[in-house]
Amino acid sequence: MNNVQSNTDSSAPKPLLELNNINKTFRLGPADVRVLTGAGLTVYEGEFVALVGASGSGKSTLLHIAGALESADEGSVMFQGQDLSRMSRRSRHRLRNHSFGFVFQLYHLLPELSVLENVLLPAMVCAPWYKACIRARPGKRRALELLEQLGLKDRLRHRPSQLSGGERQRVAIARALINEPALVLADEPTGNLDPKTGQTILDVLRGLHKGSGQSILLVTHDVNIAAQADRVVTLRDGKIVDSTPSVS
Ligand SMILES: Nc1ncnc2c1ncn2[C@@H]1O[C@H](COP(=O)(O)OP(=O)(O)OP(=O)(O)O)[C@@H](O)[C@H]1O
Ligand SMILES: [Mg+2]
Repeated sequence: MNNVQSNTDSSAPKPLLELNNINKTFRLGPADVRVLTGAGLTVYEGEFVALVGASGSGKSTLLHIAGALESADEGSVMFQGQDLSRMSRRSRHRLRNHSFGFVFQLYHLLPELSVLENVLLPAMVCAPWYKACIRARPGKRRALELLEQLGLKDRLRHRPSQLSGGERQRVAIARALINEPALVLADEPTGNLDPKTGQTILDVLRGLHKGSGQSILLVTHDVNIAAQADRVVTLRDGKIVDSTPSVS
């Protein structure tokens, strides 16, 4: 990724997501867990950023705050120049559904739905019931394409409980990508996969990133995965402490 240039330069990368001075403490009875203490991070349009840090350092928490799934105690989250905390619940909900694609560390698939139905779900959410079926048609084509790319075309009717951990993760990735979100927030999407499958997943993500300019903020413990990002940032002691170009 290019270095940030002057604001007057129209070719300068535009910030997509801006986290400013984020503080977050979890209160569990008398014990406070201070997780984020002034964390700041900007992800630019079309940028692929890897977020690394020790287990328990707050990476998932930061990702949830970035995607408006959790609120910060202090600080602001801006998406395309809009402050998430000033949006109505409805606008925030729409933003989550249309602009963000989440891949959760623990998958969060709906157990009673098949693979195909799980992937299609975000394409149907927010549509009035009579439009949901019409909307599902192009969605279904895309879902089938994604599931094929991710090596799951023979698992369409399986339920999550009938899949391996790696297969569930790939379904979660297809679900995150179905609405072609501007920003993919992925929490260790290759954590449960063998290196070869992990690389396939990363290739799908990078293909989207290159082809349609999607931005990616991806948490990983894997140095080989991090090395393929445009930039690697580290979370330590509640803050983003360094921000270095990837060595790839
Ligand atoms: N809902 C919660 N209530 C209380 N404490 C929490 C909650 N969620 C997270 N924590 C604590 O916050 C800290 C950061 O958790 P988080 O899941 O963000 O870490 P992480 O960097 O993603 O770790 P890992 O690499 O193991 O996934 C941990 O110490 C965790 O115990
Ligand atoms: Mg985590």
